[in-house]
Amino acid sequence: MADALIQVQGLEKTFRQGLLMRQIDAVRSVSFEVHRGDIFGFLGPNGAGKTTTIKMLTGLIRPSAGRANVFGIPIPSAKAMKKVGFLPENPYIYPYLTPKEFVQMCGRLSGLGGKAARDRTMQSLDRVGILYAADRPARKLSKGMLQRTGLAAALVGDPELMILDEPMSGLDPVGRKEVRDLILDERKNGRTIFFSTHILSDVETLCDHVTILREGRVVVSGKLDELLRSEVQLTDVVLTGAGEEFEKTCEKAGHETHRVQERLHLEVKGADAVQLLIREAVEHDIQIVHVHTRSETLEDLFVREAIEHEASPKDAPPGKSESDPDDSTRPPGE
Ligand SMILES: Nc1ncnc2c1ncn2[C@@H]1O[C@H](COP(=O)(O)OP(=O)(O)OP(=O)(O)O)[C@@H](O)[C@H]1O
Ligand SMILES: [Mg+2]
Repeated sequence: MADALIQVQGLEKTFRQGLLMRQIDAVRSVSFEVHRGDIFGFLGPNGAGKTTTIKMLTGLIRPSAGRANVFGIPIPSAKAMKKVGFLPENPYIYPYLTPKEFVQMCGRLSGLGGKAARDRTMQSLDRVGILYAADRPARKLSKGMLQRTGLAAALVGDPELMILDEPMSGLDPVGRKEVRDLILDERKNGRTIFFSTHILSDVETLCDHVTILREGRVVVSGKLDELLRSEVQLTDVVLTGAGEEFEKTCEKAGHETHRVQERLHLEVKGADAVQLLIREAVEHDIQIVHVHTRSETLEDLFVREAIEHEASPKDAPPGKSESDPDDSTRPPGE
């Protein structure tokens, strides 16, 4: 499609690890497309393969199989990356550089001339709210301040496409809101944004499209409003005075339960089950504190598709290792 800025087709990455060169299938036949003007959320639990996919797209590591184009050019492509603003996971900033020096250097690397790099640096630092610390060495910055500096570096080259690996990581609630606003504003400014995250509420308020990975595979992909099942009615019920026996009966009936002090919280699927539960509660003199019916949220979808369908342990990819044979492909500090 003409306006697809990222096209990924059957992408795979296998790592070999340890003395026995044990195989880790980090990304398995992943396909998706990101179109111009999209805010695209790339989700999945820890170790699902998000960063590995992003590293392939940005040319930091090579795919084991499959194809991907960025701006229609097969990866890895330095030419395509000129139009991409990239925020790596845990951005590494040389400790003796200040945000101003670091972002300016990134501006120069993305092809800006001296004055343009200086001007864009100040604009970008201001845009992400770190201008006040522009001259402090990175070693004296907090985690959130480093993250903001990384975001400024992703913006400085005036990119058409932003690829952001966990942009809200390390930020406080105000910082997260600022990044959400930044993403929405930058889309208005004509940019396309592809980002990975764990924070589902952020995705729900921002994204048009999502792809959810689990164990290296795509398990859900599409337009967010079409994916959330409006027909799935979930009801949150809170009761007081319900004993253990009543709780066990609820669990047997398939309701999700948890206790907060004397309150029993339940999540009930379907209207009939709610009626039955309320009738039972009244019969047992249990007080109904709260009943709220809602449609499926992204969190429900995520739990349904990415967590409840867990594969058997033998299929699960092992955790990251310290002695990583492919680390030579990582940028310093990663
Ligand atoms: N260089 C590497 N060598 C060996 N295995 C690796 C390497 N990089 C990643 N892996 C493995 O690949 C899998 C996917 O890791 P990845 O970092 O892509 O996950 P992620 O979805 O970004 O997770 P998180 O949400 O924790 O950031 C994991 O099992 C990880 O241990
Ligand atoms: Mg990651």
